Amino acid sequence: MLVAPSILSADFGTLNDEIIAICSAGCDLVHVDVMDGHFVPNLTIGPVVVNAVAKVATKPLDIHLMVENNTFFVDLFAPIKPKYISFHIEEEKHPHRLIQKIRDYGISPAIVLNPHTSPSSIEYLLEDLDMVLLMSVNPGFGGQKFIPSVLEKASKLKEMIEKKNANTLIEVDGGVNNKNILMLRDAGVDIVVAGNYVFGSHNYKVAIDSLKV
Ligand code: DX5
Ligand code: ZN
Repeated sequence: MLVAPSILSADFGTLNDEIIAICSAGCDLVHVDVMDGHFVPNLTIGPVVVNAVAKVATKPLDIHLMVENNTFFVDLFAPIKPKYISFHIEEEKHPHRLIQKIRDYGISPAIVLNPHTSPSSIEYLLEDLDMVLLMSVNPGFGGQKFIPSVLEKASKLKEMIEKKNANTLIEVDGGVNNKNILMLRDAGVDIVVAGNYVFGSHNYKVAIDSLKV
């Protein structure tokens, strides 16, 4: 299991130190939640802050867009050269075109599904995607309760990926902790995002290690 701490739960007063701490504690990716106050009822950070994060991070960035105008934000964040940019399928009329655009920037494209969205909505995009991110909370805030139906969804998605012989990874985001990590692994999940669980712990390395199942 790969672990991507969400910096939404970090102490933004000491953000540099927080990034250094999770990277040296052995995280695999740094998950960055970009919210625009329209697609979700919260507002987070833009390219100025994400640039500062990228400068100090020794692990690749995983940018999760929760915005209304995906194309605008892809153009805004692409120069930072994250490993992944993921966008919500619920907010995109031309997902195939946007996937190509992200790939043309040399970035791995990923699509996010909200808790109510079926994996069948992206069946014909799977081979073009490097990752699918399944929300296990309603997007907008850290520290929410895990929605267990994501487990069945992940298993279904895994079957679809295997049927197509695709290499698409499955990431789960929201309410992940040491209580649900084994179920996530058994459902075929490759990467977990964890905000509150990691940044709310006393020892980041112990918390990250407990998710590496
Ligand atoms: C929610 C964000 C998540 C969130 C995860 O909209 O996408 O990345 O920060 O935080 P926890 O692990 O606390 O649910
Ligand atoms: Zn996220």
